[in-house]
Amino acid sequence: MVLNDTSVQPDYDRKAELIAFDETKSDVKGLVDSGVTEVPRIFRLPSPENLTSQQPQPTLPTIDLEGMNADPIRRKEVIRQVKDALESRGFFQIVNHGIPVNVLEGMLKGVRDFHEQDTEVKKQWYPRDLSGKTRFAYLSNFDLYTALVTNWRDTMYCFMAPNSPQPHELPPPCREILLDYSNQVMKLGVCLFELMSEALGLDPNHLLDMGCADGLAVLGHYYPSCPQPELTIGTPNHTDNDFITILLQDHIGGLKIFYQNQWTDVPPILGALVVNAGDYLQLITNDKFVSSQHKVVANKAGPRVSVASFFTTGLIQTSKVYEPIAELLSKDNPAKYRGITIKEYADYYREKGLDGTSALLHFTI
Ligand code: OGA
Ligand code: NI
Repeated sequence: MVLNDTSVQPDYDRKAELIAFDETKSDVKGLVDSGVTEVPRIFRLPSPENLTSQQPQPTLPTIDLEGMNADPIRRKEVIRQVKDALESRGFFQIVNHGIPVNVLEGMLKGVRDFHEQDTEVKKQWYPRDLSGKTRFAYLSNFDLYTALVTNWRDTMYCFMAPNSPQPHELPPPCREILLDYSNQVMKLGVCLFELMSEALGLDPNHLLDMGCADGLAVLGHYYPSCPQPELTIGTPNHTDNDFITILLQDHIGGLKIFYQNQWTDVPPILGALVVNAGDYLQLITNDKFVSSQHKVVANKAGPRVSVASFFTTGLIQTSKVYEPIAELLSKDNPAKYRGITIKEYADYYREKGLDGTSALLHFTI
């Protein structure tokens, strides 16, 4: 669904209600704790979500990374699977990726514990500027005033690379685990970029040499239990503004990707991680790998916690220009996008908000 249809703007003073929500410096969790039994108007979709999963659905590939580094034949097979998944739907799950289950569980718990602190304690992290100077920030809706529908979600942001934070810059409930988890995610990301480079027929270091793993932002989402989940949305339809995202989700479910003309569930698998291509990967591969639309529906069974690790330098000013990789272009496959800096793209993405359209369209030649 496209949310930027002006005909669906409800006739009430939305701006005033947004300001009122913003001024509480509280969050969606705060609303739920205060006992709301109906979804307030600022959170309401123009038309309700269909929460019944369509059957049958195409299944999302799960790729087993076991033995990949020791056995060249296994590695070749993994590269083939990664290539198929990124060319067709831009999403896959991985198991035996090397990050132990206790670290995954610890990370989910750290995010949950952060969000479940007293509002007064959380307020000291809200609002902050997100320019990359502040290592840790927390706010309910980053596009509160531009989004047409407020999301049933609170999010903490942490910028882990290129400059890793000092422990004291991070909140105590997730301080150590954030450092540990993001170290391990960075290593895994490096492995994935090597596989992807090979899947593109390039030298294994190609994507790393371009700087695809130079930046890492870790987002800890908290989707409070919702009394009327069909009336609102956890995260609206969007694509990610990064090279890849490595997503850790808990057991609740609700993530859906748009594939073969239908919304398809990404089922939680204990110990697995979800990997997806973001807009920058689609841009530099000239559409060979796709950055797919996805969303998260609200739920009654929650809270749901997820941790999205974005490989991007975000709003940090760098001079590096990204454009379609020359080796992938030919007379029949000319560049579809102009060169961009990550900051230029990230600024545009933020200003546009998650309105159901792709920011990539703005940068086509
Ligand atoms: C995101 C995202 C999915 C989730 O952070 O971009 O799509 O399950 N998150 O929270
Ligand atoms: Ni996303």
